Amino acid sequence: MPYRLTVIGTGYLGITHAACMADLGFEVLGLDIDADKVLRLNSGELPIHEPGLEPVLRRGLESGRLRFTTSYEDIAAFGDVHFICVGTPQKRGEYAADVSYMDAAVESLAPLLDRECLVVGKSTVPVGTAERLADKLARLAPAGVLTELAWNPEFLREGHAVQDTMRPDRLVFGVRSERAEKVLREVYEPLGDVPIVVSDFATAELVKTAANAFLATKISFINAMAEVCEAAHADVQKLSEALSYDDRIGGRYLNAGLGFGGGCLPKDIRAFMARAGELGADQALTFLREVDAINMRRRARMVDLARELAGGSFHGCVVGVLGAAFKPDSDDIRDSPALDVAVTIGHQGGRVTMYDPIALDNARKAHPELSYGESVVEAVRGAHVVLLLTEWQEFVDLDPEQLGGVVAARRIVDGRNALDAETWRSAGWHYRALGRP
Ligand SMILES: NC(=O)c1ccc[n+]([C@@H]2O[C@H](COP(=O)([O-])OP(=O)(O)OC[C@H]3O[C@@H](n4cnc5c(N)ncnc54)[C@H](O)[C@@H]3O)[C@@H](O)[C@H]2O)c1
Repeated sequence: MPYRLTVIGTGYLGITHAACMADLGFEVLGLDIDADKVLRLNSGELPIHEPGLEPVLRRGLESGRLRFTTSYEDIAAFGDVHFICVGTPQKRGEYAADVSYMDAAVESLAPLLDRECLVVGKSTVPVGTAERLADKLARLAPAGVLTELAWNPEFLREGHAVQDTMRPDRLVFGVRSERAEKVLREVYEPLGDVPIVVSDFATAELVKTAANAFLATKISFINAMAEVCEAAHADVQKLSEALSYDDRIGGRYLNAGLGFGGGCLPKDIRAFMARAGELGADQALTFLREVDAINMRRRARMVDLARELAGGSFHGCVVGVLGAAFKPDSDDIRDSPALDVAVTIGHQGGRVTMYDPIALDNARKAHPELSYGESVVEAVRGAHVVLLLTEWQEFVDLDPEQLGGVVAARRIVDGRNALDAETWRSAGWHYRALGRP
């Protein structure tokens, strides 16, 4: 009989995992402590923006294989395999990750377990967490119940979450028994031929943080080159194009711009540094401090460029900001470089109006002090400077001639190197971009 699965924590990761597993034919019960979210999910409404996910969610609900609850009793009685997908945000005022939601999930679930099951951590956690949670699970689960922990980190990207879940590059199973490995192999069997790496807990946890550290480093590498290009009057776009033809380097994650943000890379590299410090291996990761610093300097440079174009001061300056999400095809504004830049310019006296195709509501809730437009035209009307901060296709496709008729001055800073400089310049725009002359 196929396993019955539960998914604990239905955010960006959990909803995707639950809906995709139901689509693969499993019966799935999702759980969240946010009752409103559970209500919306049960009625087929996706509380996040993720391309292609809503039809998968609806199919699951209509098939009767997918449901959501707030009751730990329900999932304990239901599940053979419990996936924990709760958040692990950065602690306030510290680099370390806050893993208290993981602990809370295990503390809520374990005492209710009265049947054989596997508990699988999927969230991104500091190395050593799985071992600690395994002890906790063993301590809290009722005597005689065959339960154990496994670690199965998740690599999906927001904006491509369904595709990444259905066709992952690889699967990593951190396990302590053949039984746990066998269960995980059976759960992922419907995905077909995917490379599987089986390891101990610590390695499985580290694969995820190492992958994020590498990607962040690649982005900050090209952004460091952008800084040098700015000093040397060189063009980082040409430089990165030339590097990309070298297949030892590759062109992905090599676009210079405003840098990374979101709910993963920034907090994950910081948590990685904090954990390495606790382990006495901090020297190994001091380079990540620089990776983080390069990334944050891009935001400051963006503000400087915008101020320069505004004539040296933002006072009395109308600034039209295109983009609020941390990246296109997402409504996620966690640690968004676009919002950070907009807020800073607001603090420096600029009159910012922001537009984003999807993330506007989230931005408005987080920063009610900014003004928002319902369209590109509303955001840039009367602007002295326009800033492109998230490379939504809608912005890449803008007609510089048309937009020129709405702004007060044809000045644009392309924070994502997403526009064709010549097209904009020949339409009379003063075009500037990060890392380019
Ligand atoms: N978002 C991504 O693209 C992504 C990709 C890979 C890994 N991850 C990792 O996955 C984890 C979750 O990330 P996310 O972006 O989905 O976070 P999120 O904030 O969108 O979702 C977390 C959910 O967990 C719920 N929750 C909190 N405490 C709970 C509890 N005790 N019991 C049940 N539910 C609880 C919250 O209400 C929320 O709905 C993080 O560790 C993250 O680093 C995220």
